[in-house]
Amino acid sequence: MTNDIVNKIKLNALENKIPIIKDEGISFIISYIKQNNVKNILEIGSAVGYSAIEMALVDTDIKVVTIEKDEERYKEALNNIKNISLEEQIDLIYADALDVDIPGKFDLIFIDAAKAQYKKFFIKYSSNLKKSGVIITDNLKFHGFVENPELTNNRNTRQLARKIREFVCWLKEQELYETTILDIGDGLAVSKRK
Ligand SMILES: C[S@@+](CC[C@H](N)C(=O)[O-])C[C@H]1O[C@@H](n2cnc3c(N)ncnc32)[C@H](O)[C@@H]1O
Repeated sequence: MTNDIVNKIKLNALENKIPIIKDEGISFIISYIKQNNVKNILEIGSAVGYSAIEMALVDTDIKVVTIEKDEERYKEALNNIKNISLEEQIDLIYADALDVDIPGKFDLIFIDAAKAQYKKFFIKYSSNLKKSGVIITDNLKFHGFVENPELTNNRNTRQLARKIREFVCWLKEQELYETTILDIGDGLAVSKRK
Protein backbone atom coordinates (compact mmCIF):
# COMPACT_ATOMS: atom_id res chain seq x y z
CA MET A 1 0.00 0.00 0.00
CA THR A 2 2.70 2.49 1.08
CA ASN A 3 4.89 1.32 -1.81
CA ASP A 4 2.02 1.95 -4.22
CA ILE A 5 1.56 5.51 -2.99
CA VAL A 6 5.31 6.26 -3.20
CA ASN A 7 5.45 4.79 -6.69
CA LYS A 8 2.51 6.92 -7.75
CA ILE A 9 4.21 10.08 -6.41
CA LYS A 10 7.36 9.15 -8.32
CA LEU A 11 5.59 8.37 -11.60
CA ASN A 12 3.48 11.49 -11.33
CA ALA A 13 6.60 13.63 -10.81
CA LEU A 14 8.36 12.03 -13.78
CA GLU A 15 5.29 12.47 -15.98
CA ASN A 16 5.10 16.15 -15.06
CA LYS A 17 8.82 16.66 -15.62
CA ILE A 18 9.47 17.48 -11.98
CA PRO A 19 13.11 16.69 -11.32
CA ILE A 20 13.44 14.07 -8.60
CA ILE A 21 16.39 12.02 -7.46
CA LYS A 22 17.28 8.97 -9.55
CA ASP A 23 16.58 5.47 -8.23
CA GLU A 24 20.28 4.67 -7.65
CA GLY A 25 20.73 7.97 -5.81
CA ILE A 26 17.87 7.40 -3.38
CA SER A 27 18.91 3.74 -2.88
CA PHE A 28 22.38 4.93 -1.85
CA ILE A 29 20.95 7.49 0.59
CA ILE A 30 18.56 4.92 2.09
CA SER A 31 21.46 2.49 2.65
CA TYR A 32 23.52 5.29 4.19
CA ILE A 33 20.67 6.17 6.57
CA LYS A 34 20.35 2.53 7.65
CA GLN A 35 24.07 1.86 8.03
CA ASN A 36 24.81 5.05 9.94
CA ASN A 37 21.72 5.13 12.11
CA VAL A 38 20.72 8.54 10.73
CA LYS A 39 17.74 10.02 12.60
CA ASN A 40 17.68 13.73 11.75
CA ILE A 41 17.71 14.87 8.16
CA LEU A 42 17.61 18.30 6.56
CA GLU A 43 16.77 18.48 2.87
CA ILE A 44 17.19 21.57 0.70
CA GLY A 45 14.77 21.22 -2.22
CA SER A 46 11.68 19.10 -1.56
CA ALA A 47 9.99 19.40 -4.97
CA VAL A 48 6.84 17.25 -4.40
CA GLY A 49 8.23 15.47 -1.35
CA TYR A 50 9.37 12.26 -3.05
CA SER A 51 12.89 11.96 -1.57
CA ALA A 52 11.76 13.28 1.85
CA ILE A 53 9.09 10.56 1.92
CA GLU A 54 11.55 7.83 0.88
CA MET A 55 13.99 8.92 3.61
CA ALA A 56 11.30 9.17 6.31
CA LEU A 57 10.00 5.70 5.44
CA VAL A 58 13.32 4.07 6.42
CA ASP A 59 12.28 4.17 10.09
CA THR A 60 9.43 5.59 12.16
CA ASP A 61 11.81 7.54 14.43
CA ILE A 62 13.43 9.47 11.56
CA LYS A 63 12.63 13.18 11.32
CA VAL A 64 13.02 15.10 8.07
CA VAL A 65 12.96 18.88 7.73
CA THR A 66 12.64 19.81 4.06
CA ILE A 67 12.55 23.23 2.39
CA GLU A 68 10.82 24.14 -0.88
CA LYS A 69 10.45 27.62 -2.36
CA ASP A 70 8.05 26.90 -5.22
CA GLU A 71 4.47 27.32 -4.00
CA GLU A 72 2.85 24.82 -6.32
CA ARG A 73 5.40 22.11 -5.52
CA TYR A 74 5.18 22.91 -1.82
CA LYS A 75 1.40 22.42 -1.91
CA GLU A 76 1.74 19.16 -3.78
CA ALA A 77 4.40 17.96 -1.35
CA LEU A 78 2.12 18.85 1.57
CA ASN A 79 -0.63 16.83 -0.01
CA ASN A 80 1.63 13.85 -0.73
CA ILE A 81 3.00 13.85 2.83
CA LYS A 82 -0.53 13.96 4.23
CA ASN A 83 -1.75 11.16 1.95
CA ILE A 84 0.99 8.88 3.17
CA SER A 85 0.46 9.96 6.82
CA LEU A 86 3.99 11.21 7.39
CA GLU A 87 3.09 14.64 8.83
CA GLU A 88 4.60 13.65 12.19
CA GLN A 89 7.93 12.78 10.61
CA ILE A 90 8.28 15.36 7.86
CA ASP A 91 8.37 19.08 8.55
CA LEU A 92 7.87 20.80 5.19
CA ILE A 93 8.90 24.44 5.10
CA TYR A 94 7.74 26.84 2.39
CA ALA A 95 10.68 29.22 1.99
CA ASP A 96 13.78 30.09 0.05
CA ALA A 97 16.46 28.06 1.81
CA LEU A 98 18.87 30.98 1.55
CA ASP A 99 16.48 33.24 3.45
CA VAL A 100 15.55 31.07 6.44
CA ASP A 101 17.40 29.86 9.48
CA ILE A 102 16.70 26.33 10.53
CA PRO A 103 17.35 25.48 14.17
CA GLY A 104 18.98 22.25 15.26
CA LYS A 105 21.74 19.90 14.15
CA PHE A 106 21.36 17.10 11.64
CA ASP A 107 23.01 13.75 10.95
CA LEU A 108 22.45 14.19 7.22
CA ILE A 109 21.97 17.27 5.08
CA PHE A 110 20.81 16.56 1.55
CA ILE A 111 21.35 19.41 -0.91
CA ASP A 112 19.10 19.02 -3.94
CA ALA A 113 18.00 22.53 -4.94
CA ALA A 114 19.22 25.21 -7.39
CA LYS A 115 22.56 23.92 -8.68
CA ALA A 116 24.06 27.39 -9.14
CA GLN A 117 23.64 27.97 -5.39
CA TYR A 118 25.22 24.74 -4.12
CA LYS A 119 28.19 26.48 -2.55
CA LYS A 120 25.94 28.97 -0.73
CA PHE A 121 23.72 26.16 0.59
CA PHE A 122 26.77 24.19 1.71
CA ILE A 123 28.30 27.15 3.57
CA LYS A 124 25.02 28.27 5.12
CA TYR A 125 23.92 24.87 6.35
CA SER A 126 27.24 23.40 7.47
CA SER A 127 26.57 25.00 10.87
CA ASN A 128 23.52 22.71 11.11
CA LEU A 129 25.60 19.58 10.71
CA LYS A 130 26.44 17.33 13.65
CA LYS A 131 30.13 16.57 14.12
CA SER A 132 29.61 13.04 12.88
CA GLY A 133 27.28 14.22 10.13
CA VAL A 134 27.40 14.13 6.35
CA ILE A 135 26.35 16.49 3.58
CA ILE A 136 25.19 14.76 0.40
CA THR A 137 24.84 16.84 -2.75
CA ASP A 138 23.03 15.55 -5.86
CA ASN A 139 23.39 16.18 -9.62
CA LEU A 140 27.13 16.66 -9.80
CA LYS A 141 27.18 15.10 -13.25
CA PHE A 142 24.27 17.25 -14.42
CA HIS A 143 23.26 14.70 -17.05
CA GLY A 144 26.82 14.46 -18.37
CA PHE A 145 27.20 18.19 -19.11
CA VAL A 146 29.76 18.71 -16.34
CA GLU A 147 32.23 16.34 -17.94
CA ASN A 148 31.19 16.99 -21.53
CA PRO A 149 29.94 20.57 -21.91
CA GLU A 150 30.18 20.17 -25.69
CA LEU A 151 27.03 18.00 -25.47
CA THR A 152 25.02 21.20 -25.48
CA ASN A 153 25.06 24.54 -27.29
CA ASN A 154 22.82 26.10 -24.70
CA ARG A 155 24.73 28.88 -22.94
CA ASN A 156 22.83 28.61 -19.66
CA THR A 157 23.36 24.87 -19.48
CA ARG A 158 27.08 25.31 -20.11
CA GLN A 159 27.30 28.02 -17.46
CA LEU A 160 25.54 25.81 -14.95
CA ALA A 161 27.86 22.92 -15.79
CA ARG A 162 30.82 25.21 -15.17
CA LYS A 163 29.39 26.30 -11.82
CA ILE A 164 28.96 22.69 -10.74
CA ARG A 165 32.53 21.90 -11.85
CA GLU A 166 33.79 24.84 -9.77
CA PHE A 167 31.71 23.68 -6.82
CA VAL A 168 33.25 20.20 -6.99
CA CYS A 169 36.77 21.74 -7.01
CA TRP A 170 35.85 23.96 -4.09
CA LEU A 171 34.41 20.99 -2.17
CA LYS A 172 37.60 19.02 -2.61
CA GLU A 173 39.62 21.94 -1.21
CA GLN A 174 37.59 22.17 2.01
CA GLU A 175 39.91 21.20 4.84
CA LEU A 176 37.12 20.52 7.31
CA TYR A 177 35.53 17.96 5.00
CA GLU A 178 36.54 14.77 3.29
CA THR A 179 34.54 14.58 0.07
CA THR A 180 33.98 11.54 -2.10
CA ILE A 181 32.37 11.95 -5.49
CA LEU A 182 30.28 8.93 -6.40
CA ASP A 183 29.26 7.94 -9.89
CA ILE A 184 25.78 7.03 -8.66
CA GLY A 185 22.57 8.36 -10.18
CA ASP A 186 23.31 11.86 -11.49
CA GLY A 187 26.50 12.03 -9.40
CA LEU A 188 26.57 12.40 -5.62
CA ALA A 189 29.09 14.16 -3.39
CA VAL A 190 29.42 12.71 0.09
CA SER A 191 31.14 15.22 2.37
CA LYS A 192 32.03 14.07 5.88
CA ARG A 193 33.48 16.18 8.67
CA LYS A 194 37.11 15.25 9.20
C1 LIG B 1 15.70 18.57 -7.91
S1 LIG B 1 14.29 19.25 -7.16
C2 LIG B 1 14.20 18.40 -5.62
C3 LIG B 1 13.87 16.95 -5.78
C4 LIG B 1 13.60 16.21 -4.49
N1 LIG B 1 14.70 16.35 -3.57
C5 LIG B 1 13.38 14.76 -4.80
O1 LIG B 1 14.34 14.08 -5.16
O2 LIG B 1 12.23 14.31 -4.68
C6 LIG B 1 14.86 20.83 -6.67
C7 LIG B 1 13.81 21.68 -5.94
O3 LIG B 1 14.51 22.70 -5.23
C8 LIG B 1 13.69 23.85 -5.21
N2 LIG B 1 14.57 24.98 -4.91
C9 LIG B 1 15.48 25.57 -5.74
N3 LIG B 1 16.12 26.55 -5.09
C10 LIG B 1 15.61 26.59 -3.84
C11 LIG B 1 15.86 27.41 -2.70
N4 LIG B 1 16.75 28.40 -2.74
N5 LIG B 1 15.16 27.17 -1.57
C12 LIG B 1 14.24 26.17 -1.53
N6 LIG B 1 13.96 25.37 -2.57
C13 LIG B 1 14.63 25.57 -3.71
C14 LIG B 1 13.07 23.87 -6.60
O4 LIG B 1 11.89 24.64 -6.61
C15 LIG B 1 12.85 22.38 -6.87
O5 LIG B 1 11.53 22.00 -6.57
